[in-house]
Amino acid sequence: MRLFLELLLLLLLLGLCNADHGNRRSFSDLVSPDLGSGEEVSDDTEDMTTTILRMNNGSSDFLLEGDLVIPKTRSAKKCLTRPEKCLWPRQGINVAIPYVLSDRYDYSEKSEIVRAMKDLESETCLRFVPRRSQRAYLSIEPKHGCSSIVGYVGGKQTVSLQKPGCVTFGIIQHELMHALGFYHEHNRSDRDRYIRINWDNIKGYYRNNFERQDTNNLGTSYDYSSVMHYGKTAFGKAGSESMTPIPNPNVPIGQRMRASTLDFLRINKLYCRGYRG
Ligand code: CU
Repeated sequence: MRLFLELLLLLLLLGLCNADHGNRRSFSDLVSPDLGSGEEVSDDTEDMTTTILRMNNGSSDFLLEGDLVIPKTRSAKKCLTRPEKCLWPRQGINVAIPYVLSDRYDYSEKSEIVRAMKDLESETCLRFVPRRSQRAYLSIEPKHGCSSIVGYVGGKQTVSLQKPGCVTFGIIQHELMHALGFYHEHNRSDRDRYIRINWDNIKGYYRNNFERQDTNNLGTSYDYSSVMHYGKTAFGKAGSESMTPIPNPNVPIGQRMRASTLDFLRINKLYCRGYRG
């Protein structure tokens, strides 16, 4: 009986120790979390565009293409014409991107944002680092909606990830890729060979969101599966299709799970030449 009581006491003490440890996790533990795949993140069936546009509805900011903030210091399209001016600087073999996460995010939201960052790092030379005193950095904040400036600005630049709707793996990566200098896939220069824009299904004041841009496609092929591709009903009247893949209209677009293989390739081509991870 005494042995039994001693064992019980021991088990109780062990349980208390573990519970205490669990409650003492701090944000610094997040800096090297286990990496899962983006596919674990959400079983929500709403496509990414619908979520982004729903979250941005009513925003007082003027948002180009639905989620691009126009910087005050330069033209919104500068990164199209002079992409070399919009890159985060490379230091040695890596590209460090300092960031600050708002304290308005809770532990699990911070964890999800860091997990999405670590995943972008996993196949590239990018390294998202907590800001110390760097002048240029991403300030990730739960403002209204999901939005970002395109490319490097050189000072504080805000990435808005409203909680909870925008704090999902794919949307985090989508907005971070804007901050890296990438535009939307369906607006690239050769898109008319891969999607048909159904202009009649788009309200007049949204049509400029479908302007084809003179993009530098980095020698990569059109990517229906890009996390930067909007879904079929983006800006469509009453849920109608604003764009349709051609020749096969059934090809899925607008995925929100994770940066695609070609998204990673583009990051590597833009930032990581000569990098061997
Ligand atoms: Cu976007």
